[in-house]
Amino acid sequence: MNPTVHSKERRSQNGFKLEIPALSENEAFARQVICAFAARLDPTIEELSDLRVVVSEAVTNCVVHAYKGVDAGNIQITVRISNKGILKVRIKDTGCGIADIERCMQPLYTTDPEGERGGMGLPIMQSLSQKFSVKSAPGKGTTVLFEMQFGKSAV
Ligand SMILES: Nc1ncnc2c1ncn2[C@@H]1O[C@H](COP(=O)(O)OP(=O)(O)OP(=O)(O)O)[C@@H](O)[C@H]1O
Ligand SMILES: [Mg+2]
Repeated sequence: MNPTVHSKERRSQNGFKLEIPALSENEAFARQVICAFAARLDPTIEELSDLRVVVSEAVTNCVVHAYKGVDAGNIQITVRISNKGILKVRIKDTGCGIADIERCMQPLYTTDPEGERGGMGLPIMQSLSQKFSVKSAPGKGTTVLFEMQFGKSAV
């Protein structure tokens, strides 16, 4: 049986939005949902494992940093597959925001040195994704955008 052929435009609209409370127990859920959606791009185990790490670091930052000292807050996740087969992910919070993004991108820089934090989340996210950016301002929340292109699906 032939699969239905969709237009490139229709394919590039393929994606989903998800909003979940910024709770540590939701981190695995976010990871699983995004990886399940990305599986159609036929990633290798290594690529899937990289995606898991990037999502995990981004969501964990929302959980541990964005809403520090506040009792509630959500994480908005948007996932899209472009018509070139690129996975585009946006992970956004509406928390405290970051004053100095460049500084926070430095390996080993953390505002939580007494805790379990190592200051490696953002540099790891950047190194494992093909495109990576952080948009943030104090009091305005933080948006992390990243793209991943998997070998077999590259057009
Ligand atoms: N979503 C966010 N909201 C507010 N601040 C953030 C957010 N994400 C990162 N930061 C700030 O950027 C710093 C660096 O983040 P990064 O993920 O690299 O390290 P970390 O979270 O401190 O440690 P690790 O990720 O290794 O456990 C954090 O310590 C925090 O101050
Ligand atoms: Mg982190």
